[in-house]
Amino acid sequence: MRMGKNAFLLVIYMVLVCLGQPATAHGFSGHDEHVATDNGEAMKAQHERMANFRSAAQTLCDAIIRSDSRMAVTGADKLQKSLAGHEKDIPHKNRKLAKEFHALYVELGKRAEKMKTSIRANDLSEAAVSYGQVLSVCASCHNKFRD
Ligand code: HEC
Repeated sequence: MRMGKNAFLLVIYMVLVCLGQPATAHGFSGHDEHVATDNGEAMKAQHERMANFRSAAQTLCDAIIRSDSRMAVTGADKLQKSLAGHEKDIPHKNRKLAKEFHALYVELGKRAEKMKTSIRANDLSEAAVSYGQVLSVCASCHNKFRD
């Protein structure tokens, strides 16, 4: 009787495992094939870019508050460097508007350059205005292209 019950449980277990495994494996490989081929690397790069953007924006915010021009240059440099390779990024939604998507990156670069000019001139009040304009590009893109 006991053995029977254990065997029964074992069968249930096996069924669950067998049903579960292929479903997951299939779901996974299906998804991976789709994304990993050429989009996987690009997606990873895009996520990293966003993390760098965020850290650059935080550095800039702190620098402006502290009137620390050197720190502000570091932030602006990081922001600009983080733009490299954006051509491979893919919008998560509104994919047809890829041109507009990339134009926002270009605009971000321009505004960062303008901000840098103010930082170099040691005018952090003016840099703060440009900083707001930089953030406004982040917001525009997120509004339109983030899920
Ligand atoms: C051209 C479009 C675009 C621009 C410009 C852009 N982002 Fe993003 N961002 C995205 C997309 C798409 C996602 C969602 C997918 C992802 O994380 O890659 C995202 C996600 C993020 C995330 C992660 C989301 C979260 O909720 O944790 C952060 C942080 C971020 N962006 C910061 C920034 C900052 C800061 C700027 C401006 C300096 C910026 N982004 C500019 C498109 C953009």
